[in-house]
Amino acid sequence: MMIARSRQELSRATANWRHAGERIGVVPTMGALHDGHLSLVDAARQVAERCIATIFVNPKQFNNSDDLARYPRTEADDIAKLATRNVDIVYIPDPAEIYPDGFATTVSVTGVSEGLCGASRPGHFDGVATVVAKLLLQTRADFAFFGEKDFQQLQVIRRLARDLDLPVKILGCPIVRGPDGLALSSRNTRLSVGALHKAAVLYRALREAAARIAAGESADIPLRTAAAVILASGFSAIDYIELCAEDDLMPLAAATRPARILCAAWLDRVRLIDNVALDDLLPAEPITAHLKERLANA
Ligand code: PAJ
Repeated sequence: MMIARSRQELSRATANWRHAGERIGVVPTMGALHDGHLSLVDAARQVAERCIATIFVNPKQFNNSDDLARYPRTEADDIAKLATRNVDIVYIPDPAEIYPDGFATTVSVTGVSEGLCGASRPGHFDGVATVVAKLLLQTRADFAFFGEKDFQQLQVIRRLARDLDLPVKILGCPIVRGPDGLALSSRNTRLSVGALHKAAVLYRALREAAARIAAGESADIPLRTAAAVILASGFSAIDYIELCAEDDLMPLAAATRPARILCAAWLDRVRLIDNVALDDLLPAEPITAHLKERLANA
């Protein structure tokens, strides 16, 4: 496995692959890798001949300097984990490779980025769209893999790739959860053991609300009940809990089209996000079937 820290090293390898007709899958990350990230690498390995994982803690997407300063950085461990998964290149760009002196461009996706996390974290999705556009262009990937854990981010990136005609297929992969249902997240490492137990309530409350709405109830009362359960279990605040349409993330009062409940809530000064699709209540399909379907629709 090669570690590339400059665009030049990266493009030397990718040029050879492209010349040999090999397709490239990229998994962009900010490091502090866990099984959620590694599931994306596994998906990339199934779809493309070559796999690049990127690690870059992108300052432009943090709207809170404390969150940026406290973001976990575990580069040596990350590299060791990726080496066990047959990654070809880990691209860990020096900051100047992404934001050289004089950098003056912002990629901003309207609409789908505006509610939910876009409302509670101003500027966040501009930072995400800008860095992802650069990483997709620098790696020249044919496929890029993102988790449904950050569902709004996935929809923002899909829009970005479509609107800018980026020659890449964006593939969404299912959320990887711990045994108690808590979605794996790099920020979970900042929770105390007690808080980790409380955190699992988030998923349980969302599932409960999703089941009621899927059964035909309108969203209002199930969402209010879920919010009350989350706060009663020790979360200090909820940024949002909403039923939204899967494709454009417009708020819905009932499940009149394919929909998902999305939530962001604070526990122990850590902001956790999660979401549940109303169809996730059906038994999970194997990852290969999931990927095939996503590829067909991409
Ligand atoms: P990061 O939070 O490191 O996440 C990298 C990728 O891993 C994202 O696509 C995210 O959705 C996915 N992921 C995280 N936890 C997951 C889980 N439990 N199950 C499945 N996938 C999971 O998201 C970012 O970094 C950044 O915003 C980035 C896209 C790299 C741009 O800087």
